[in-house]
Amino acid sequence: MTKAEIPLKTERLHTVAPYIGKMRPEIAGWAIETVSKPGDLVYDPFCGSGTVLLEAWLKGRDAVGTDLNPYACLISRAKLNPYMPHDVDNVHEKLDYYATLVAKIKPTVTLDEIPEWVREFYNPETLVDLLAWVKVLKSCNDDFGLACLLSLAHHQRPGFLSYPSSHTVPYLRTKKFPPSEFPELYEYRPVLPRLEKKILRVYNSLPSLDFSLSRNIYQQSASSIETERKVDAIITSPPYMGQLDYARDNRLRLYLMGVENWSALNKEISPSATRFVEEFSACLNSWRKNLRHGGKLAIFVGTTTNTTKKTT
Ligand SMILES: C[S@@+](CC[C@H](N)C(=O)[O-])C[C@H]1O[C@@H](n2cnc3c(N)ncnc32)[C@H](O)[C@@H]1O
Repeated sequence: MTKAEIPLKTERLHTVAPYIGKMRPEIAGWAIETVSKPGDLVYDPFCGSGTVLLEAWLKGRDAVGTDLNPYACLISRAKLNPYMPHDVDNVHEKLDYYATLVAKIKPTVTLDEIPEWVREFYNPETLVDLLAWVKVLKSCNDDFGLACLLSLAHHQRPGFLSYPSSHTVPYLRTKKFPPSEFPELYEYRPVLPRLEKKILRVYNSLPSLDFSLSRNIYQQSASSIETERKVDAIITSPPYMGQLDYARDNRLRLYLMGVENWSALNKEISPSATRFVEEFSACLNSWRKNLRHGGKLAIFVGTTTNTTKKTT
C-alpha cells in the first residue's frame, strides 16, 4: 500500500494510552479489510495496545487478542470496552462515586514502601492521590478508567500527573525544567479533574460501536490460545527481535499496575532474535490449529539495523 492509498481518519479511542511499537491504525484497518469480511473472527496474537483489535471491532468483526504484557492487555481491554456511549451523566456519577471511595482509602495510603525510582516522578501528595485512584479503579474492574488514568501518569504538560518527564518512556526532564525555575511544575496535581477531562475527551468522541460483537483479550502467550470458534484471519506485528523493551519502557505504568519486577517481564516479552525464532515457530503451530481452512495470516515486521560497532 502506498502512502497516498492510506485513509487518514483514525478514532480517538486509539489514543487512550501510549504504547511503544504501536501499529498505525490505518495500516491495521487496511489489513483487516484486505484479509477478512464483516462477521469474521480476527485474532491478534501479539495485540499490544489493541490497534488491530479496535480496527477489527470498528469494521464489524469479532476480535480476540493475546499479549503477555499486563499494561498492553489493559489498554486493549479499555479500547474494546469503553464506557457505554451517550450517557455523560452516568460518567459523572461514576467518577463522583469513585471519588468518595478514594477519599475513604487515601488516609491508609503511605509512600513508605514505594521505591525511590517511582517517588522521584511525583509530588508526594499527587502520588498518594494517584495510588488511591489506581486502587479504586482496579477494585472496581474499571479497565477504561484505569487506562485513561495511566495515560496521565507521566508527561511534562500540566494536564498530566508527574513532574516534567517524557510521555511514552518515563524519563524525568529536570535539566530542561529545573524546579528552581519552574516551581509550578512541581506542585500538587489533583487526579480527579485531570482524569475527568481525559475520560470525557475520549468518551465524547466515541464512534458508533456495535457492542454485540465479541471482544476478548487474554493475558497469555501468543502460542497458547485455543479459540472456541475457528479464526478467520490472524493479523499481527510480533515483537521486534529485541529492538524494543516493552516492559522497561512501560516500567512506571507497570509498577502502578502492581508489576514490581519489570526486568523479568522484559526478558519474556522482548526476546532476543534467537529466542524469538523459537517462540515464533511454536506460534505458527498453534495458529495453524486455530485458523480455519482457507483463513488468512498477515504479519507485519519492521526492519532494523544494528549500528553498534564491534571492537576487535
Ligand atoms: C510490536 S508489539 C505489538 C504492537 C501492537 N500491534 C499495537 O499496535 O500496539 C509486540 C507485542 O508483543 C508482546 N509479546 C511479546 N512476546 C509475547 C508472547 N510470547 N506472547 C504474547 N505477547 C507477546 C509484547 O508485549 C508487545 O506488546
